[in-house]
Formats: sequence, C-alpha cells, structure tokens
Amino acid sequence: MQQLENILEFYREIGATFLEKREPTIVRRDSPPESGTARRMVPQQPPNPNKELEAVHQEIYRCTRCELHQSNTNYVPGEGSIQPGIMFIGEGPGEEEDKLGRPFVGKAGQLLDRIIEKMGYKREDVFIGNIVKCRPPGNRDPHRTEVEACLPYLKRQVEILKPRIIVCLGRVALNNLLDGDYPITKVRGQVFEYHGIPVIPTFHPSYILHQQTQEKVSKAKWDVWHDMMKVLELIKKV
Ligand code: URA
Repeated sequence: MQQLENILEFYREIGATFLEKREPTIVRRDSPPESGTARRMVPQQPPNPNKELEAVHQEIYRCTRCELHQSNTNYVPGEGSIQPGIMFIGEGPGEEEDKLGRPFVGKAGQLLDRIIEKMGYKREDVFIGNIVKCRPPGNRDPHRTEVEACLPYLKRQVEILKPRIIVCLGRVALNNLLDGDYPITKVRGQVFEYHGIPVIPTFHPSYILHQQTQEKVSKAKWDVWHDMMKVLELIKKV
C-alpha cells in the first residue's frame, strides 16, 4: 500500500493525468601495492559481510590496473545489500563519490535515492555499483582501456550478488555491460539480458538534472519512472 501511495505521489508530482500500460519488450543477448593509499582521505568502507565480495573490494582498493588510480582520492567499489533484488549500475564516481569512497552520494545520488524510495525500497535494499571504480578526471566518460581494466570487477560483483534485475543508469553503463552500442533514448525501458539476468536501461539521474526547462525535467522524470515501473512489474516475475 505504501508503495502504491509513493507511486501515485510521484505521478502527482510530475503532473501526470493518465497511466499507460505496456508490456516489456525482451531483447536477449548472450551473453601490487598501489600509490593511491597515501592520498586517501577517508578510511575504506567497513568490511563487507559477504567474504567473496569483500575479497573483490579489497582487490579494488589496491588496484593499479589503469591510470585512474593515480588521480583518485578514494576507490569506490560500490555498496548495498548482499542479496539485492535490484542492482543499479552507474558510470563512474564523480567528485563527491571520490571524496567519500561511496557511490551516488552527490546530487545525482540524492535523486537516485528518491527514485529508489518511490519504488518502495530503501537504498540499503539494493546494490549500487559503477562501471569504473575510480573517478575519471573532470567527470569525463571513462576511456576504453579504463573500462577494460575495471569491468572484470563489476562482472565478479554481479556473479557474487546475483541480483534479480540490473538497472543500467545511462548509455555508458548499458553499452559497457552489454558490449553494445545502443542509443539510450531509443532503448531505455526495454529488457535486455546479461548472463540470464534481465537488464533494464534508463536515463542516468544526471540527465534529469541537466535538462534546461521544467517541462523537459518532467518528461525525463516521467520516462525514468515509466522504466522503473517496468522494473517493479518484472521483479514480481523473476
Ligand atoms: N554518477 C555515476 O555514474 N556514478 C556515481 O557513483 C555517481 C555519479
């Protein structure tokens, strides 16, 4: 009931006057000590109760596989439930995330928290990760070589966590996870598959924040919410 109230409140907020019902389209795809320690300003996150995941995170904290470790303040392995129904995957840490060593804690993160709450979950109920675990300078897209170096960590996280659904936040998350070249505006809300796990892409929260007019903000929010409704429908079936 609380979840239904949240959904209706969200619709009211964006000025929606009707509800649309569509079936999901299924698209299948088969799918050494480091130099950063001295610069680290906050301690690593507390040990994860899942030992396998903790081992991956400890590897990340020592990673020198690409140049991003030279400019980071903190590594951002990801955080959340160790039995997540939903795993959200973003692009890479921004300034705030780099400062705190935690994913999605800046403005985009606050918006993501709100989306998660409106879906009827708490942030701790889901897992939030990124394609790359170190901040690309100036928030640029991660380079191919950086993604290639870092992606195995995410793949191991997915393998260990076994989320029931993956939500890719934006083009960079989607195309790097699925090794594709999909235009996010065209494919958002569709159901893809990664190793048997349904993947639903949607806009990155920053995309909503960067819209220039209130009308465009509402449209982008509506689209994201539409996609999250698909997630909520699908999670009942998987
Ligand atoms: N944007 C991302 O893609 N990831 C974060 O962790 C924060 C902002």
